[in-house]
Amino acid sequence: MRLCLFHLPWLLLFLLVAELTCSYSPEKRSYLTHDYFVLEHNPAAGASLDECAGELGVEVEEQVGEIRNLWLVRSAKAMSRIRARSTEDSVHTRYESLRTRAATSNSFWVRSHHQRSARRILSSINYFEEQVPRRRNKRDDAHIQRAPPPTTPADQTPDASTSVAAHLGISDPLFTSQWHIINPDYPEHMMNVTGLWEMGITGRGVITSLVDDGLDYNNRDLAENFDAAHSYDFNDHTDLPTPVLADDRHGTRCAGQIGAVKNDVCGVGLAYESKIAGVRILSGPITDVDEAAALNYGFHNVSIYSCSWGPPDDGKSMEAPSYIIQKAVVNGIQNGRGGKGSIFVFASGNGAMFGDQCNFDGYTNSIYSVTVAAVDYKGLHPYYSEACAANMVVAYSSGSGKSIVTSDVGDGKCSNSHGGTSAAAPNAAGVFALALSVRPDLSWRDIQHLCVRTAEKINPEDPDWERTATGGSFSYKYGYGQLNAYAFVTAAQNWSLVKPQAWFHPSAIQINNGSLLDEEGEMTGGVPIIRGGISSTFTVTQEMMEQHNLEDIEHVTVRVWISHTKRGDVEVELFSPNGIRSVLAAPRSQDFDNTGFRGWRFMSIKHWGENPLGQWTIKVSDQEGQNGTFHGWRLMFWGSTIDASKAKTYVLPNDEHLLPSLEEPESIDIPTSPITKILPKPTLGLPDDHESAEGEANRPAFSGKPTGSAIPTMTPTPDEGWFSDMSNLVYSSRWFFVALSVVLLFGIGAGVFFWRRRVRRRAAYSSLAVEDVAMTSVTGTVRPGVRAKELYDAFGEVSDDEDVDEEGPMLEASRRPEIHSGFLDDDEESAEGTPRYRDDPEAGDDEQRHLTAEVRPDSAGSGSSWDHASQA
Ligand SMILES: *[C@@H]1O[C@H](CO)[C@@H](O)[C@H](O)[C@H]1NC(C)=O
Ligand SMILES: *[C@@H]1O[C@H](CO)[C@@H](O)[C@H](O)[C@H]1NC(C)=O
Ligand SMILES: *[C@@H]1O[C@H](CO)[C@@H](O)[C@H](O)[C@H]1NC(C)=O
Ligand SMILES: *[C@@H]1O[C@H](CO)[C@@H](O)[C@H](O)[C@H]1NC(C)=O
Ligand SMILES: *[C@@H]1O[C@H](CO)[C@@H](O)[C@H](O)[C@H]1NC(C)=O
Repeated sequence: MRLCLFHLPWLLLFLLVAELTCSYSPEKRSYLTHDYFVLEHNPAAGASLDECAGELGVEVEEQVGEIRNLWLVRSAKAMSRIRARSTEDSVHTRYESLRTRAATSNSFWVRSHHQRSARRILSSINYFEEQVPRRRNKRDDAHIQRAPPPTTPADQTPDASTSVAAHLGISDPLFTSQWHIINPDYPEHMMNVTGLWEMGITGRGVITSLVDDGLDYNNRDLAENFDAAHSYDFNDHTDLPTPVLADDRHGTRCAGQIGAVKNDVCGVGLAYESKIAGVRILSGPITDVDEAAALNYGFHNVSIYSCSWGPPDDGKSMEAPSYIIQKAVVNGIQNGRGGKGSIFVFASGNGAMFGDQCNFDGYTNSIYSVTVAAVDYKGLHPYYSEACAANMVVAYSSGSGKSIVTSDVGDGKCSNSHGGTSAAAPNAAGVFALALSVRPDLSWRDIQHLCVRTAEKINPEDPDWERTATGGSFSYKYGYGQLNAYAFVTAAQNWSLVKPQAWFHPSAIQINNGSLLDEEGEMTGGVPIIRGGISSTFTVTQEMMEQHNLEDIEHVTVRVWISHTKRGDVEVELFSPNGIRSVLAAPRSQDFDNTGFRGWRFMSIKHWGENPLGQWTIKVSDQEGQNGTFHGWRLMFWGSTIDASKAKTYVLPNDEHLLPSLEEPESIDIPTSPITKILPKPTLGLPDDHESAEGEANRPAFSGKPTGSAIPTMTPTPDEGWFSDMSNLVYSSRWFFVALSVVLLFGIGAGVFFWRRRVRRRAAYSSLAVEDVAMTSVTGTVRPGVRAKELYDAFGEVSDDEDVDEEGPMLEASRRPEIHSGFLDDDEESAEGTPRYRDDPEAGDDEQRHLTAEVRPDSAGSGSSWDHASQA
């Protein structure tokens, strides 16, 4: 009862004012006594934040991190519900009632004042979703906790290290063991920073934030460079990121690689006069709201966010950051570092031995992150380091018998067993810190350009290297090559800044009317993936480029809609007009997921700088099982502007995973997305022998096996060979296909398929009660309570009437296919313990198709999860 006293409405105002005047420090959460929600407010739609909060019966806690109009709100739990989680929930009830009022069909009732007000408020709530913290899976990771004794300086102290140490006055006892700084055995394989130190470039004035499991600021090797003002603990909601758990060592070790002080303890960091901040998120339950805040924490002054974590590296997960987190990343890119953009550095992942690829991780395949994979001290590819077309560079880490030597938790403690791609990313972050200390004006895209430009080819004989259209080389394992600090920073010194970003996002290509109209729905249309694969093309013209103010291309992203009984069998390749091939998805033998790709976004940087004019071809193939259907794809180009003065600000859309999709992203965000996730420690997937196992440099990342019997090893030109055959088959002989699939698939397989699907979905619903689900299943249907699902469907059914003009685009967003509410009703029932699958998909599909044909923008409104698209 006492808690209720605090729920005075003016507390909201106070908090609002406090937010504006004080430096940001998130409130403590009290999940035991309160339910938390995130609310995205759309002030332009008419209702104030207080009005929305009042209607829902929630109090505004604080803005979510640095993201404007995104608010964390909460409501006190009823006492009875704390003891037994009853289904009674006033916020949900209020929201439902609001929706009901707004959606009431006008054909029965004249629109009332109530309805108008409800619709206004609903339009002002772009997004509403419960936030439930989750415990992270603590798996057995004995190999991490068995910290080996610190190494003593090598007996045969290498000349190079000692002379540099003497020259620069370095007396850190382990400096000579830091082979990634000076590598006596393989001098060509090191970060190559000492030349910069001699030039006085040591990272002064740059702050790097280690978003990790804490940072031991009491260790004398780190204390002097620790930046408390930009540190925070989102696990325990305290100001300092103190490592608490036994295995909270990872963040401290990563921090040491960047900012270990030049003193008489352990070794030195690559940017040993830069500052390091710690943001702790990996040591316990975390919500999307807190992760979003963490990625923007102190973003005006922090330059670099070093992130050595991500979805599980198990070769079967396919996970992307949710809408809120993506918003934070885009916010960081656009507004961080005085508008130059936060530099997000992500480790590529440690799951290569399970067939995992960084293009199945939405953090590493984001265009906004610099993805860093690992090479070992011999320059070889460690067997854990993940490959993909989104890999940008490699930096040094464990393998072939050596690990990274750095600071550790405990005063004066050092580690000589740090490794994995986790240790590669901070080495890259350290290099970026050095560069930004001399060129603070470099934008996030300048940093990426410099990576592409200055990375150096290693193991040139490795068959994984392939030529790019610009005459360079790219490797899925090494990206553009090893990051060489000296080359990078000296190039940065004379670098001319790139023009602002531009993009061209053609409409999605629907294959045989392929569609996915809401996140829970079936994908329809499409053609069966037959032996040899299915290809489809899109032609880029000069006009298109000019129309979109796009001069040249950097990143290419490709969304795909594919249904398949075994996702791991699917291969996706993209061929540029110049015959350059990007493998977007190679087979993953452990990935047995049967939901396919629901608008999943792949990314390639292999086409950086390439002339995009001409025909782009996607090829989707599988292991000849004929168990899949290719429904559609969407190609998106990102690059720089022709006319910088016409640059636009990108607005993150949320409906891109729907097929058909809109021409261009609207300035409407109707997010949808699950709320919380488990962030496994990167070391969890790291094999015990990550240090000892010998690396390799003689295998292509993606086996090199032809993806279909008829596929030539040489890239065919678009106009000849099997390619045009396949295209013709798709585009000219559609009826042959349809007939074939009717006979073969729908006659025999489809019944089985739908039956299996139903069984699966039934299973998914019945597992809703299970709180402790694995990350792979957190997105989509399996979530703590279907009720939350209803909440983020922020818009009730609204008939298409004259209000469009009157109330503007917001209302357009509020339209949604009618089937959705029917579906939600089903959810309601499952929430009460009787899992039930929606039984009238045909009716629903018809309805939706009808809606699409008539009022196409509606498809934007069926609030649906970006993450669902990526759902495992
Ligand atoms: C490393 O840096 C030095 C300058 O200190 C430079 O002369 C040398 O070429 C660099 N090494 C490589 C492999 O680029
Ligand atoms: C961030 O930098 C600005 C300007 O340099 C400064 O005024 C402000 O105090 C800094 N913030 C913190 C928390 O140090
Ligand atoms: C950068 O420019 C300066 C002066 O223009 C020149 O002396 C220097 O050699 C250049 N450095 C590089 C790496 O091109
Ligand atoms: C696709 O949809 C359009 C419009 O609804 C229709 O005219 C066309 O026949 C459809 N094509 C196929 C192959 O079903
Ligand atoms: C195709 O699906 C059937 C049944 O759904 C299954 O028995 C078969 O193993 C699958 N084939 C492949 C290659 O996955």
